[in-house]
Amino acid sequence: MSKKITISGIKKRKGAAPLVMITAYDALFATLLADSSDMILVGDSLNMSFAGKSDTISATLEQMIYHTNAVCSGAPNSFIVADMPFGTYIDKKSALNNSIKMFQQTQADCVKIEGGEDKAKIVKHLTDNGIAVCGHIGLLPQSVRSEGGYKVKGKTEEESKQLIKDAKAIESAGAFCMVIEGVKAEVAKKVAESVLVPVIGIGAGKDVDGQVLVFSDMLGLFEEFTPKFVKKYIDGATLVRNAVSSYAQEVQSREFPKEEHTY
Ligand code: KIV
Repeated sequence: MSKKITISGIKKRKGAAPLVMITAYDALFATLLADSSDMILVGDSLNMSFAGKSDTISATLEQMIYHTNAVCSGAPNSFIVADMPFGTYIDKKSALNNSIKMFQQTQADCVKIEGGEDKAKIVKHLTDNGIAVCGHIGLLPQSVRSEGGYKVKGKTEEESKQLIKDAKAIESAGAFCMVIEGVKAEVAKKVAESVLVPVIGIGAGKDVDGQVLVFSDMLGLFEEFTPKFVKKYIDGATLVRNAVSSYAQEVQSREFPKEEHTY
């Protein structure tokens, strides 16, 4: 996947080959992940897996710009989605000013905004002003404190109807795709069927238009907790611990460095 996918290319994947999205927070991993992904998300989840905080709330715009720049440098041919952090899109004016900062100071291709019907006016204001927007509906990590935890959505008829309203509102506001997180699979399927833009799932089952995972979860590097929807493709934490332990033993026994590592 060396040629960068475009927004129209992303839209064409509706109901077609599933989109592959993965998070990255730095140039090193962005380079490694670029070949196998359609889109790289610089998620504010970096505040948890990278900065060690208990949720995403304290990520700042400056941090997101710094990490987005790093990812853009590492994966210059990838389509980059930059998460707008908590508190940076509370009204139309601040949302536009902050998104312009993100666009002017990085090579991000779009911003991602959490929220549904309630955020439609803000999404419209951004898209009307040349900022491409990826929506994010369902379980909203930035609402974890106000909701008292991470709650799977779509468990009631009312919630399911609201999710469809959210997806339609975000689509009408001009979002070219959206993430749907933590939603019962049968409801996510209905949501995906209710709009013409791709709906990319995380913890939302297989009947959507693509999947996104946090790279440190799928590489088994993040050990704090593992949500049910995460598949660990390698046990990265054990691999890293074993490698560092071998290094430590070899340093202590003076086995490292050898002749070939010496000037
Ligand atoms: O911040 C993030 O990594 C995200 C994903 C969970 C979709 O928003």
